[in-house]
Amino acid sequence: MDKNFYITTPIYYPSAKPHMGHAYSSIIADFFARFKKIDGFNVNFLTGTDEHGLKIQRSAEKAGMEPQIFCDKISKTFRDLSDTLNLSNTDFIRTTEKRHKKTVHHLWNELVKNDDIYLSNYSGWYSVSDEAFYNEDEIEEVEGKKIAISSKSPVEWIEEESFFFRLSKWEKPLLEYYQANPDFIAPESRKNEVISFVKSGLKDLSVSRKSFSWGIPVPNNKGHIIYVWLDALTNYLSALNYPDKNDDLFKKFWPATIHLIGKDILRFHAVYWPAFLLAAKIDLPKRVYGHGWILSGEEKMSKSKGNILDPLEIIKQYGLDPLRYYLIKEVSFGNDGNISQERLEDCINSDLANNYGNLCQRVTAFVNKNCDGKIPLEIKFLDEDLLILNKFKDNLDNIRSKIDDQNINFYINYIVNSLFEANKYFNDQEPWKKKNDQIRLNTIVYTTLEIVRKISFLMYPIIPESSLNVLNIFNIGEKKVELNSISDNEYLIKGKKLNKIDILFKKIEKKND
Ligand code: MSP
Repeated sequence: MDKNFYITTPIYYPSAKPHMGHAYSSIIADFFARFKKIDGFNVNFLTGTDEHGLKIQRSAEKAGMEPQIFCDKISKTFRDLSDTLNLSNTDFIRTTEKRHKKTVHHLWNELVKNDDIYLSNYSGWYSVSDEAFYNEDEIEEVEGKKIAISSKSPVEWIEEESFFFRLSKWEKPLLEYYQANPDFIAPESRKNEVISFVKSGLKDLSVSRKSFSWGIPVPNNKGHIIYVWLDALTNYLSALNYPDKNDDLFKKFWPATIHLIGKDILRFHAVYWPAFLLAAKIDLPKRVYGHGWILSGEEKMSKSKGNILDPLEIIKQYGLDPLRYYLIKEVSFGNDGNISQERLEDCINSDLANNYGNLCQRVTAFVNKNCDGKIPLEIKFLDEDLLILNKFKDNLDNIRSKIDDQNINFYINYIVNSLFEANKYFNDQEPWKKKNDQIRLNTIVYTTLEIVRKISFLMYPIIPESSLNVLNIFNIGEKKVELNSISDNEYLIKGKKLNKIDILFKKIEKKND
């Protein structure tokens, strides 16, 4: 059976400068994509920009630019961010592309054909910042201004002719679907939130706007623009060339394995999107995972709150991999996570410099001094060597299944513990005292090098560049990083000279050290 894996990030609004929350979503998706890649899957990893709607139109007006020119410019900063974050995305979609418009029109026509769309009038509250409609009980008044309770963004009253999607019709089928597919929404707390929202009753959804022009027109009705969320969500299909069901990408990768999103856009992905798909008779994605927020202080990091840690600044100062490692480790996946520069520095020092970096430096320095700089030729494993080596093989299936549950916390703890045990093994075995027993000395060294290799394979999805720097000492390039081989205990080529290793992670001098 083909092993296919399709992961998506949300497509980003190009109205803001990318911040740490955006970087987080992308880095986590990249982690999963890379893990699956080294586990032999065909991976399709999609990201991109969400370029239509009133929010973008207003941002463009504010910048004094035509919307398309504005989008071209800002979309590029997100594309550049993908490079800066070393994402392994296989596509970058923009909703202003032709291929996307074609799919959106097709989907709209399917909804019309199935009698899921009708024309009426909308009056109610709308948040341009969230591009979302809110009920009366979802807004509050603060200092004379109406805002959405959940996002705190301002809302405005709109009244206009609009096409509606018969969302109410899908209330029961959605509840049945959640029940029959308990893994569809994760983590559990988000699933419960969605179910209680749907149970509280779904009203038909306004899916077109008349009062502005920046978007995809409703087919055969140019006065209406398709609601930006119906437009944006469809990107997950347009990137696979839907409606061409014979297209290789579509056949291989739909239904998507996982839509990775932030919890603020759960309703769109776990209620509206599956309802559109059910109505259009398209299979539903296998999972929608709503991760938590990156907080700064106790608040969601966002431009409007002015509490942004700029990922580009942080990368300039500390390097990319330390940031990737820190975000993946520090934020307990699924929950909100408070990040700070100080804790980033602690993490670099303790985990990367002292633990991983030190192990690599120490064992290679020892090889240079005592084994002529070569991977030892003659070895003879004792039980204590096999005990530590075999743990990787014994845990491999468990690691895979934890990743399929998006249990990143398990994965990172597994690595940290393995590093701790590896350092302890090297200390306890005291190879420097075995100079009169070359085979024992060789075996300890070989075992430690093998552990370094295995851990570096596991590190690859988290810190690809640094782990490849380590693996370069064995001449192992990216193509040879295969998860299966962490079960092999004699993978390294005996007698081969080690390449030189550079300093991997610089220790940060802390002011109060
Ligand atoms: N354009 C929509 C998504 C459409 S998907 C069909 C959108 N864009 S966004 O740029 O506002 O947000 C993109 C992603 O970044 C969302 O998943 C959002 O949850 C995430 N984050 C934005 N700020 C965040 C934090 N402070 N922390 C973590 N993720 C956050 O929504």
